[in-house]
Amino acid sequence: MNQFKEAAARAAAQQLRDGMIVGLGSGTTAALAVAAIGMRVKDGLKIIGIPTSEKTAAQARLLDIPLSTLEENPSIDVTIDGADEIETASLNLSKGGGGNLLREKIVAFASSRMIIVADESKLVVQLGSRAVAVEVIAFGWKTTAKRLEQIGARPTLRLSAQGQAFITDDGNYILDCAFGPIESVGLLQGKLDSVVGVVEHGLFVGIAQQVFLGGSAGVRVLNLEQKN
Ligand code: A5P
Repeated sequence: MNQFKEAAARAAAQQLRDGMIVGLGSGTTAALAVAAIGMRVKDGLKIIGIPTSEKTAAQARLLDIPLSTLEENPSIDVTIDGADEIETASLNLSKGGGGNLLREKIVAFASSRMIIVADESKLVVQLGSRAVAVEVIAFGWKTTAKRLEQIGARPTLRLSAQGQAFITDDGNYILDCAFGPIESVGLLQGKLDSVVGVVEHGLFVGIAQQVFLGGSAGVRVLNLEQKN
């Protein structure tokens, strides 16, 4: 629910301090976090943001959040982003519902700390109830889809609202790959990484340290070390 997402987003934005380089995530919950960061910037917080999508960059510019690039600032202090599924015990994630997984992953890997903001509906015991977003090169995408089938996926080309192939910020396609419950995320990650034509996938393994989870009882913080 929106109020739960908003509470999580606001709590996460409170983690920021002057001087930080901050990864700005994408998706509806991350957008609420960017809005909360914008409020803090308006109140005097001095940070530099690295956006994970063109949409987030546009939102941040409207809010006067100073922006930079990974070329100028290759080390990010903290990134705040959303997720489609969060595995409770491991904080492994499935991301890419909004189609920004490639830049999100590059930014996440450049970050010392990654905070996920979400409502309770995103918490799962095991990843895989939703299809895994896989970004592929448009060239020969049907052959890439076949190779994905060979590793157990049921891929569907993601379409835009107009019924055309959805195109990512980097000009690629997304194949939403249903696998069913994922027994070993590490194993599947390795298989996906080895498929020719795959640019990146939405499994974020061992990257998130902390989750700010909004729910009816307020905002709960899940830490990787303590696991609840
Ligand atoms: C964007 O590509 C995604 O990874 C989002 O972070 C994820 O889909 C969560 O989005 P919502 O906050 O809109 O559910």
